[in-house]
Amino acid sequence: MLESDIQEVLFSREALAARVCELGAEINRDYAGERLLLVSVLRGSFIFMADLMRELKLDCNVDFMAVSSYKNGTVSTGAVQITKDLSEDIVGRHVLVVEDILDSGNTLSYLLRYLRGRKPASLRVCALLDKPDRRIKPIDVQYTGFSIPDAFVVGYGLDYAERYRNLPYIGILKPEVYSK
Ligand code: IMP
Ligand code: MG
Repeated sequence: MLESDIQEVLFSREALAARVCELGAEINRDYAGERLLLVSVLRGSFIFMADLMRELKLDCNVDFMAVSSYKNGTVSTGAVQITKDLSEDIVGRHVLVVEDILDSGNTLSYLLRYLRGRKPASLRVCALLDKPDRRIKPIDVQYTGFSIPDAFVVGYGLDYAERYRNLPYIGILKPEVYSK
């Protein structure tokens, strides 16, 4: 059972929905009158993205990128690789990168440098979760759902070795699951 591998629920389905609604309201306000391109970083952010997007009243498009920096472990290898690039041209577009979690910052710092090189009109980040204690690369994040302590979390799209993404809440994974 997936449930029995969870040590503690950090954010219930209801708490997530309430925070996503607040983030949506902020984004609606900040981009009023603009067209927005949401860039979801696969795979972890797909559920957050789907929920956030439905809170937006703006004219928006969606695109996806995939990067890999984790080799089924819980610690970043530091090396980032783009495994799926954007389908749309972002020159002159207002781009909002939607991420599941900001940990060391390696993935986002690489991605932001890459996207900036493609000359968007603006480039911002919305991350559902942030683990500030683990930051190695400084990142400017305009929208953050929750700051969390240094623990490995799963659910609501976040995985460990591709499992647990379907849990409707976010919880701390029992350390014995990944130290086995
Ligand atoms: P960073 O490059 O170290 O900032 O790592 C970012 C990526 O690592 C995220 O997009 C996640 O896919 C993954 N990640 C980091 N921490 C966790 C966690 O606690 N649970 C699940 N995935 C995580
Ligand atoms: Mg992941």
